[in-house]
Amino acid sequence: MIRTRSLTKDFVVSRSSTVHAVRGISLEIDAGELVAVLGPNGAGKTTTMRMLTTLIAPTSGTATVAGHDVVAEPAQVRRQIGYVGQGNGAGHTQRVRDELYSQGVIYGLDRRAARQRAGELIEALELTELTGRKVADLSGGQRRRLDVAMGLVHAPPLLVLDEPSTGLDPQNRANLWQHILRMRAEYEMTIVLTTHYLDEADSMAERVVVVDHGEVIADDTPEVLKAKLAGDRIVVTAADTEGARRLARLSEHLPEARDIVLDGARVEARVSDGPGSLPELMREAQDAGVRVTTAQVHRPTLDDVFLNLTGRSLRETEGNGENTDGENSDGANTDTQEAAA
Ligand SMILES: Nc1ncnc2c1ncn2[C@@H]1O[C@H](COP(=O)(O)OP(=O)(O)OP(=O)(O)O)[C@@H](O)[C@H]1O
Ligand SMILES: [Mg+2]
Repeated sequence: MIRTRSLTKDFVVSRSSTVHAVRGISLEIDAGELVAVLGPNGAGKTTTMRMLTTLIAPTSGTATVAGHDVVAEPAQVRRQIGYVGQGNGAGHTQRVRDELYSQGVIYGLDRRAARQRAGELIEALELTELTGRKVADLSGGQRRRLDVAMGLVHAPPLLVLDEPSTGLDPQNRANLWQHILRMRAEYEMTIVLTTHYLDEADSMAERVVVVDHGEVIADDTPEVLKAKLAGDRIVVTAADTEGARRLARLSEHLPEARDIVLDGARVEARVSDGPGSLPELMREAQDAGVRVTTAQVHRPTLDDVFLNLTGRSLRETEGNGENTDGENSDGANTDTQEAAA
């Protein structure tokens, strides 16, 4: 469905300054895949989506969508895609039903088909009570659902969504996902989306492409990325610092133990199998007479994957695009399993 070869985009800002937004991305996405493109602000996600959807021309490299070259055959590409941009796409003054209807007509549906499709989408995306409202009066979440409906009007084989759920509350995010997944099953669509939500990429996408500084730095299923590039962490606290020192030495023998950090009475280690290694360490501690006060296993998140690849936390780079001293990496998305010791 999508094939890019060394796709590159430079923005010449002034004579002396060029932004290398996308630096040679080569990607293959098969029909039917659901792929999340994940990366911090400014990574080049939107620029890539805009090249794939023929809105901007690549500086170099090639891209084909459904077999059509994005530069040589933009009209054919556009017929195959639905695009929900990062900003809102719908106009302001039309009413919801009219907006969907005119979008259908613009895409070449006859009046009857356009009316029917608008009706289907209104039902599917739970817009029924809003059909008579002006687009400008909708709430952010309602409007985002309308945006997605607009992208689906012509039942495209490929749906490209740039941050479909940003700004939605958790309930609306979940709702939107339900709708997108249902539409996907119904129309057998390929879906490519960008997101900042690590948990969303993790749970929804079958494949995650991690982009940083305009390059693909990882591309696999969330499970494989987490297992290969992050691994489990175990965190153990001893009753005293001498005990912790001995724990640190014991943890060196755990399978594939690495990154062992001793911090006062606390020991942290990365291991291949946290739930298996922790009880083993506890047994060895007991045999050695070391008293353990707390013990935890942290399963990796996609943020740990990003951290391991780049040395930065994706969560910390969120928001205004600056590196900030955000919450530590044991935040809400960490799947923490505690064991009483
Ligand atoms: N028209 C433009 N002119 C100059 N620079 C641009 C232009 N469009 C994008 N850029 C720059 O290209 C880089 C990549 O931007 P892009 O919008 O693709 O990032 P993104 O990954 O979508 O980020 P976000 O998560 O914030 O949406 C950024 O440094 C951005 O400032
Ligand atoms: Mg963007």
